Amino acid sequence: MINWDELKHIHVLRKLEQILAQWFNTEVFIMDSQGRVQNYDPTDRQRQFKNPLCASMLPYESGQIALLDVMAKASEKLSSDSKSAITFTGPLGFEKGIISPIRFENDFYGAVCAFSFIEKSVTQDELAKGRKLIESLGLDIGFYEEAVSKLRVLEGKDKKYFVELVDLVAQEIVAFHTEISKREERISALNSELGNRYKYDSMIGKSKPMQDLYSLLDKIRSSESSVLIQGDNGTGKELIARAIHFNSPRKDRQFVTVNCSAFNENLLDSELFGHVKGAFTGAVKDKKGLFEAADGGTLFLDEIGDMSLSMQVKLLRVLQEGTLTPVGGVEEKKVNVRIIAATNKDLKEMIEMQLFREDLFYRINVINIHVPRLRDRKEDIPVLIDHFLVKGCKEKAVALKTIGKRALEKIFDYSWPGNIRELENEIERLIVLSGSELRVTVDMLSQRIREHGANAKVQGVRISGRLKDALEELEKTMIREGLRRTNWNKSRLAKELGISRAGLIMKVEKYGLDKRKLLAKPGEGTTEESGETDEAV
Ligand SMILES: Nc1ncnc2c1ncn2[C@@H]1O[C@H](COP(=O)(O)OP(=O)(O)OP(=O)(O)O)[C@@H](O)[C@H]1O
Ligand SMILES: [Mg+2]
Repeated sequence: MINWDELKHIHVLRKLEQILAQWFNTEVFIMDSQGRVQNYDPTDRQRQFKNPLCASMLPYESGQIALLDVMAKASEKLSSDSKSAITFTGPLGFEKGIISPIRFENDFYGAVCAFSFIEKSVTQDELAKGRKLIESLGLDIGFYEEAVSKLRVLEGKDKKYFVELVDLVAQEIVAFHTEISKREERISALNSELGNRYKYDSMIGKSKPMQDLYSLLDKIRSSESSVLIQGDNGTGKELIARAIHFNSPRKDRQFVTVNCSAFNENLLDSELFGHVKGAFTGAVKDKKGLFEAADGGTLFLDEIGDMSLSMQVKLLRVLQEGTLTPVGGVEEKKVNVRIIAATNKDLKEMIEMQLFREDLFYRINVINIHVPRLRDRKEDIPVLIDHFLVKGCKEKAVALKTIGKRALEKIFDYSWPGNIRELENEIERLIVLSGSELRVTVDMLSQRIREHGANAKVQGVRISGRLKDALEELEKTMIREGLRRTNWNKSRLAKELGISRAGLIMKVEKYGLDKRKLLAKPGEGTTEESGETDEAV
């Protein structure tokens, strides 16, 4: 929508209107898509008009109606069949106006109308007809002839120029609107980025994969479809399942979680579908299943990859038919449950191995959410650390702690196989272990995190044979890596390694780690490298 009020502040528009008034004696009206004039208030009696006909007709209601009506009709014609300006005839029958469309991406937003002029001198006949109309409108006839005599005659080049100016007004409005909507788009894009920037419900993360996840969650807010959430351990699958439920139309009903791997088959059966009294030993009374508990709400089937094939068949039947039979029962019960399932298993692979039913897979995989591993979105580590520090320190009622720079680097380098849960636990552990220290240092980190990088670098080193050889190999590896890291800055590396520069140069000679040699023979001395990059080991 065009903000018509804003238009009066646009300098170039005001300038154009002035030109059209002063040079052509015409009035400029800006109309919306319904043909309503937006830059003129009919109740405003003070308004001065440059155009003599407008000046004498518009202050009176009957004149207003007659004039605005022709303009609205011209606008209607324009909206339906014209891409460029057209000339229309005013109520008196001889005076003309130009109306030019405001089109934006081919949609008709309104029109600019310049009124009125004549194309040739007015005949006596025309004048008489016009007079009749003025009389019938009950307007004062005294002004009439003088007003008509003041109308500008526009023909040929003059008219062409005039039409161009009117078009220009329309184009300026389009340009202004384009600019505004672009800015609004930018702002709303920025806002949505900011709004979702690091949080979605209780999920934290500002990385691109998380932003993508948030917008997917936004999209499926009103959906009732089944969702399958796949991702490694501790990536936040349950958190996502909750977010989906609590943002869905079912949010006021139950969210019921069942961990499919926690039960043996029989138990899961009665857990999910309930049982009747006497169905098995210990079934002393009827018991409702989780499906019924979740009726109208959401059932979260966690670790669905652990469900046995026969349970999968039962589940599929409930999902297809919307009815279930409790264990030992005969009567069918109707349930209306939305399913969200989660697993860290590769279900596609399980289908190939015939461990998971393909039909059930397609039933639950209507919306698929893949949750990225923490190591694939390390940008999120700082916000997550902050979040867990604030949360943990608050819970333990201790002063807010910070993580030292070197410790942070270690945390960054680590591969986090246990994902967010592992990070959350580590931060909790650090809060406790740091005691009264406000700053967490490297030595407080769990060993696996502290030694992660170090391990990676010596992984290729032999562990059998002569100690001297092994040490030499380690030395060689460290120097080679160091040289690369410091871009062959030997002074700096010598300092880092705690040896003299001369000593380092000697060793470089000894191991043949000369820059030229290394670059000339890229294969040289790289046999141990395979182990160095594999951080998952
Ligand atoms: N994006 C996140 N922001 C904040 N906390 C998170 C986030 N993702 C996960 N967590 C936290 O990490 C822990 C593990 O999350 P959750 O239980 O949802 O993972 P999961 O994928 O279900 O794990 P598993 O596969 O082991 O069942 C929870 O304490 C959760 O609050
Ligand atoms: Mg889980």
